[in-house]
Amino acid sequence: MQLRQFFALGALAVGLTYCAPSTPPAPAAAPEEPTLKSAFAGHFTVGAALGAPQFTGQDTAAAQLVAREYNTITPENVLKWGEVNPERGVYNWEAPDAYVQFGEDHNMFIVGHTLVWHSQLAEYVKEIKDPELLRAALKEHIDAVAGRYQGRIDGWDVVNEALNEDGTLRKSVFSDVLGEDFLTDAFKMAEEAAGPETELYYNDYNMWNADKRNGAIRIINKIRENGGRVDGVGMQGHYSLSGPSIDTIEQSIRAFADAGLKVMITELDVTVLPNPWDLVGAEVSQNFEGSPFMNPYPEGLPDSVQTALAVRYEDLFRLFLKHSDDITRVTLWGVNDGHSWLNGWPIRGRTNYPLLFDRQNGKKLAYERVMALKK
Ligand code: G3I
Repeated sequence: MQLRQFFALGALAVGLTYCAPSTPPAPAAAPEEPTLKSAFAGHFTVGAALGAPQFTGQDTAAAQLVAREYNTITPENVLKWGEVNPERGVYNWEAPDAYVQFGEDHNMFIVGHTLVWHSQLAEYVKEIKDPELLRAALKEHIDAVAGRYQGRIDGWDVVNEALNEDGTLRKSVFSDVLGEDFLTDAFKMAEEAAGPETELYYNDYNMWNADKRNGAIRIINKIRENGGRVDGVGMQGHYSLSGPSIDTIEQSIRAFADAGLKVMITELDVTVLPNPWDLVGAEVSQNFEGSPFMNPYPEGLPDSVQTALAVRYEDLFRLFLKHSDDITRVTLWGVNDGHSWLNGWPIRGRTNYPLLFDRQNGKKLAYERVMALKK
């Protein structure tokens, strides 16, 4: 810088100091409201399953809640085989593209759910009886879907719900035609398509059940022995107010961690409604639709149940914190109570309250009690 300029600046500074009145210091920014992601940062990521209205911004209030509170997302339906690849060679990319873009726009850990599942499966797959043809269809699907989002989706539920409650292999077109080897095939194909950076998971429900947990560890060890990579296991976490017990869940978290697996709570919700199978002598096929007994809170949740729900969530998050060396993620299965699949399952047309945010995206007592764990 030329001497002349330096002085000019000096002069200018002097000039300015004299004429400009001092501006009062800006008021201190209100301390950022703590959020789920900030409160549990350093322990595990916290997230929610999103439907199209949330990640397309159609439901702006919920989209804003997600961006404010969460640092990981899971697609509730749009990346399932029947939704994204309903016919051979036909792909619905619009919604999944928007989902991944939403995640990137908000710097989220983006989960893919799910590459291989017996449910919401495209019809054309169910008709394949030849092992080579089915293996080819499996590879084609995984290459297309996991390949498209290589480097953008951070972790995939490669296989979902392949086990029975006793830990044996669930009957499906995959196990029928390819036997248990379909599991190793799927994980090897996913690693190739998704790339070395992407985490690969086995995901299932009732993983607190010892037989099922042992079955999961058995198949994961077999996949690994056959050269497949499995980084973590997803315990879905569809719980009720009364069960499973914290101790039972803890035993599974320990067992999976001991098996060298990252543990994720992938689909957390807590139903507050009675279920048909809770009723002694109830015939499950009996139609409970419209029964006030099975839908006791259509107008709102009584304080006593709100409190019971809050205590349940507090106990669950206290357990997750205790094991945050092994638990990498906690995802809630929906954004707010109105969005939850539990309003329509196992009985259609019920009013459930299984999540941390109410139908107006308001913070429930359960949210406050969970946050208080980190105060
Ligand atoms: O996409 C079709 C649409 O074209 C059609 O018009 C509409 C009318 O019925 O149905 C739409 O499909 C629905 C789909 O969600 C997408 O909204 C299916 O009927 C409905 O059954 C499906 O429900 C999903 C359910 O998985 C299917 O099993 C729930 O939203 C979703 O929350 C639930 O999630 C599963 C996890 O993936 C795996 N673990 C259990 C969890 C709860 O079941």
